[in-house]
Amino acid sequence: MTDSALMELAVLGLLLAVIVIIISLICHRRNERLFGRTPPGPWGLPLLGYLPFLDRKAPHKSLQTLAKRFGGIYQLSMGSVRTVVLSDAAMVREFLRYEQLTARAPLYVTHGIMKGYGIVGAAGAIWKYQRRQLIEWLKALGMTRKQCETRAQLEQRIARGVNECVQSYETEAQEAGGVLDPLPSLQHSLGNVINDLVFGETYRRNDPNWLYLQQLQEEGVKLIGVSAVVNFLPWLRHLAANKRSIRFLLDGKAKTHAIYDRIIHRCEKQLEVDLQQRQQKQLPPKEPHSILEHFLNERQPYSELYCDDQLRHLLADLFGAGVDTALATLRWFLLYLAREPRCQQRLQAELQQLSETPSLAELETSVYLRACLSEVQRIRSVVPLGIPHGVERDVTIGDYCLRSGSMVLILQWAIHMNPDVWPQPEQFRPERFLNADGDYAAPAQFIPFQTGKRMCPGDELARMMLTLFAGRILRRFHIQLPSDQPAIDLDGECGITLTPAHYKLRFSKLKPREGKAKVEKEKEEQEEKEKDERQVLEEAAKVKDE
Ligand code: HEM
Repeated sequence: MTDSALMELAVLGLLLAVIVIIISLICHRRNERLFGRTPPGPWGLPLLGYLPFLDRKAPHKSLQTLAKRFGGIYQLSMGSVRTVVLSDAAMVREFLRYEQLTARAPLYVTHGIMKGYGIVGAAGAIWKYQRRQLIEWLKALGMTRKQCETRAQLEQRIARGVNECVQSYETEAQEAGGVLDPLPSLQHSLGNVINDLVFGETYRRNDPNWLYLQQLQEEGVKLIGVSAVVNFLPWLRHLAANKRSIRFLLDGKAKTHAIYDRIIHRCEKQLEVDLQQRQQKQLPPKEPHSILEHFLNERQPYSELYCDDQLRHLLADLFGAGVDTALATLRWFLLYLAREPRCQQRLQAELQQLSETPSLAELETSVYLRACLSEVQRIRSVVPLGIPHGVERDVTIGDYCLRSGSMVLILQWAIHMNPDVWPQPEQFRPERFLNADGDYAAPAQFIPFQTGKRMCPGDELARMMLTLFAGRILRRFHIQLPSDQPAIDLDGECGITLTPAHYKLRFSKLKPREGKAKVEKEKEEQEEKEKDERQVLEEAAKVKDE
């Protein structure tokens, strides 16, 4: 081919490229006019999208960096999955009201395991029906803010677990010279509170099935993280390491379901016996005592809404959603309170005013306890990337068009660590949740349970558990970091939840009402100090505004 022919070909190619770019720009503009803009965002590599640039160990931090650059809404590709990231609380509230956003994200691992059953991974009719039922059942079991008999019964059931945990810490501290790993006792007793409510059964500490379920939970949550690449590039499942993880999860599911089937069978038999006995005595049927009993009582034969798989996955979801999140929160709580003697001192000053085994109503009078728990939920969002949603149908919200099949991430981490809302976000300051009158007040940007149509249905149960566990443990013990503790890791491990690395604490039993006067004096001094700090902060904010 001659030089001039080559030149002509090159010019033609260039012309074609320019025409393609112009046509796609016109189409893009037309689509934007018709459907709204797509959110801005970074470019990625073909096929892989932005995945290679995410920090696998801390994806929440990589995504936070992008939020600083692109703002409260942006879009990127994770492999083939178009992902919209929200890091502005007002936008999250607005978007999560839309029906079109109630689906779940098309993630290979979670879909592969849950298959659309249960509640957390379900969508459409099954999800809607199951969610409505679940909320009714949780209320019937006492999960309500109204003071009533069922709430008192629920409190007693939680308190049983709390007392067992406090007792174990006391024994362990005596045996181990005060220094212990708080996780095993907490995991056992908190897990049993959920077992009792969900299955109506609890385990002994050394029960082999229970030890297996706990280990599976601890490992499993790390493997089903949103950022796991297999979620977006399913062909990577053939790599040896991914094969192992997927096999571990699928084996775990099969074994868990086998354990659940035996519990379900026992419960069915027991319900039959109870019913017969009550019929003979002409008594009305007994009120269900667990989620499992509620489900079996209302079960309709041949309905997919009540099939075996739906039941097994619902039980697994409730165990996972209830234990992983609350356990991680309490582990961060103990770690931060041990790190922050000033906060612990102030909290204990309030708790010392209460009885030795304070009730929920008593603990709820401690404004500082509530503030400490909220600050823990803020500083270490236990679901840093939220639980992702999926876009069911194309939808235009405000200026933006979200395409069907996209994943929507609620970047709780960035929302809760935004320095414009929470100055010096890495500092643990429960006072952020107290107003000028010293009352509890949570800013609107605090959304640990997310918002909208899929908001956590267990939020009140979670609050009751967190308050009772945290309040009674800190009422009984002074906790400290042991002097020989290696450097503390506050980054944690990020799977679907963000959990702290293992740590040990020194537990010293507080003598009943000992030093009350001293504690009161310290509290007064503390309040003075905080007033000064508040003034300094307010003045700093004024200067910033100016
Ligand atoms: C500190 C404790 C907890 C935190 C921080 C938490 C947080 C969350 C979050 C962020 C979601 C996602 C909401 C969404 O998709 O928009 C969620 C969903 C859920 N949570 Fe919780 N949760 C906690 C405790 C509990 C407890 C104790 C239960 C037990 C009943 C529970 C049951 C659920 C369920 C079933 C869902 C799925 C709801 C749905 O998909 O419709 N959670 N939770």
